[in-house]
Amino acid sequence: MSVADLPPDPARRRALAALAGTAATLALPRRSAAATGGAIHTRPIPSTGERVPVIGLGTWITFDVGDSVASRAELLSVLRDFLAAGGRVVDSSPMYGSAEAVIGELAGELRRPPMFSATKIWTFGRWAGERQVERSRSLWGLERLDLVQVHNLLDWRTHLPTLAAMKREGRIRYLGITTSHGRRHDELERAMREVAFDFVQFTYSVADRDAEPRLLPLARDRGAAVIANRPFDGGALFDRVRGRALPAWAAEIDCANWAQVFLKFIVSHPAVTCAIPATSQAAHLRENVGALTGRLPDGALRQRIVRELG
Ligand SMILES: NC(=O)c1ccc[n+]([C@@H]2O[C@H](COP(=O)([O-])OP(=O)(O)OC[C@H]3O[C@@H](n4cnc5c(N)ncnc54)[C@H](OP(=O)(O)O)[C@@H]3O)[C@@H](O)[C@H]2O)c1
Repeated sequence: MSVADLPPDPARRRALAALAGTAATLALPRRSAAATGGAIHTRPIPSTGERVPVIGLGTWITFDVGDSVASRAELLSVLRDFLAAGGRVVDSSPMYGSAEAVIGELAGELRRPPMFSATKIWTFGRWAGERQVERSRSLWGLERLDLVQVHNLLDWRTHLPTLAAMKREGRIRYLGITTSHGRRHDELERAMREVAFDFVQFTYSVADRDAEPRLLPLARDRGAAVIANRPFDGGALFDRVRGRALPAWAAEIDCANWAQVFLKFIVSHPAVTCAIPATSQAAHLRENVGALTGRLPDGALRQRIVRELG
């Protein structure tokens, strides 16, 4: 597939992003909470300039709860509180068992509030890919999915023309590609150089900074929005700080807990569009969405976070 099939081109994307006010430097200003007026942090999607909140919601394992009444009741609070706090991006996949069905049903119970639906293709072959997107659309209960990503680059050359056609026809709004755990970065880099993806998704956290030297700068160059997965290293980051008091500098970036420190580290990188922490607990969700507001670390504090926690 040629880049020309997937307009607008990277130069135009950069211009759109600039117009939309993309933060241009790594050293983002530490504005006080009062100065931000409690407004939530958003970032533009470079290909259109549409803004999305910097904290999204992952659903791997956490939303794969089938018919469990107790789990669904808790997840209803998770989803409701996420959206009430201003969150929008919900990330899922056909690989996540019942997660897409659970999202769709809970969204129905909440009377379909505004949400940015991000799911994936995770299969081989064109026909199977088309069927899978159609099934996802139906499970989410939506006429149109916002973003469909090729999961773990699986058969991505086959799925790209399908997704490009769906985008042209208005059946999806954006297309993307994902990986995680630092896997297949070379192949992802090649794909990003070849194709103008709207979104790329890979792992980025203070525990896993493999994407820093190449993928994050390349995403900026190519005008691709970045979704950072595994922001808590799958939860392991909390083990790293267990029993450790929050440092004094956390107050300088309006963090009341470690979750907010981990998330603000990620979303203060200028190439990152949003991070997608997953949780099964409403109390944890409320901690996580706290990172939507308040000051963000500047370059010096980001380095300190790496020194102390990386
Ligand atoms: N290749 C891909 O496309 C790919 C690969 C990996 C992940 N992803 C996406 O990225 C999302 C996030 O990654 P992930 O789910 O692997 O890991 P993660 O978000 O880094 O960590 C999730 C873990 O953190 C815990 N947690 C969440 N908030 C917490 C808080 N405030 N305090 C303490 N613990 C907290 C959760 O436990 P509780 O439930 O107890 O809160 C859960 O065990 C996935 O759900 C998925 O949507 C995509």
